[in-house]
Amino acid sequence: MAQDKLRLGVNIDHVATIRNARGGEHPDPVRAAHAAEAAGADGITAHLREDRRHITDGDIERLMSEIRLPLNLEMAATEEMLAIALRHRPHAACIVPEKREERTTEGGLDAAGQLEVLTPVVGKLSAAGIRVSLFIEAEPQQIEAAIRLGAPVVEFHTGRYAHLAADQRESELKRIADAAALAAKNGIEPHAGHGLTFDNVSPIAAIPQVRELNIGHFLIGEAIFIGLEESVRRMRALMDAAR
Ligand code: PXP
Repeated sequence: MAQDKLRLGVNIDHVATIRNARGGEHPDPVRAAHAAEAAGADGITAHLREDRRHITDGDIERLMSEIRLPLNLEMAATEEMLAIALRHRPHAACIVPEKREERTTEGGLDAAGQLEVLTPVVGKLSAAGIRVSLFIEAEPQQIEAAIRLGAPVVEFHTGRYAHLAADQRESELKRIADAAALAAKNGIEPHAGHGLTFDNVSPIAAIPQVRELNIGHFLIGEAIFIGLEESVRRMRALMDAAR
């Protein structure tokens, strides 16, 4: 039986990274969002960081008004980001850990250790009709925290998997697959992302309970060589082939 379609969320942060290297308006992340849609993306993901190193407040404003695809806003659980999310009401908000000195989101959110901080954030976002996702490691205690918080979605951090050599991925893959099964069994929709490429996406895409992948850096990097639409199209085809 055909499994439910696996959605592709294209993270456009690094279009903004390149734009910001020179200031000005080119390349435009909103144009990238339109290209991703034309190539088969199901959603657009953007991370508004505290330091605004790539996506800016103006980008979020334009994405909300100019794109048709649902926007998944990645955000730290801070008062500032909560206020921004509540003002824009994106389709989804993915709560991520954020450290100013890191180059990228290096690990999952410690939801289990931050229940007190997260409870009001998840509650207020949910009450505003925003679908909350928690970016966590594929660990039972983090899934239990997501259950306690009432989050409808978890996104598993695939960074560790992505950095392993192909012949060493087996146990990490199993950890993610087991976590996806546990989340789904408890009524939580599992997503996954970070570090996914044409070479490593298929085993993650084949995990039946996983419903969405969020992919950015590789797609934008590959776009330099083959164009963004082709980059998204090839990823979409690999994901579909894996189901
Ligand atoms: N999912 C989340 C929650 C992220 O924070 C990121 C980017 O850091 C991604 C997915 C995409 O990761 P990448 O850019 O490595 O594809």
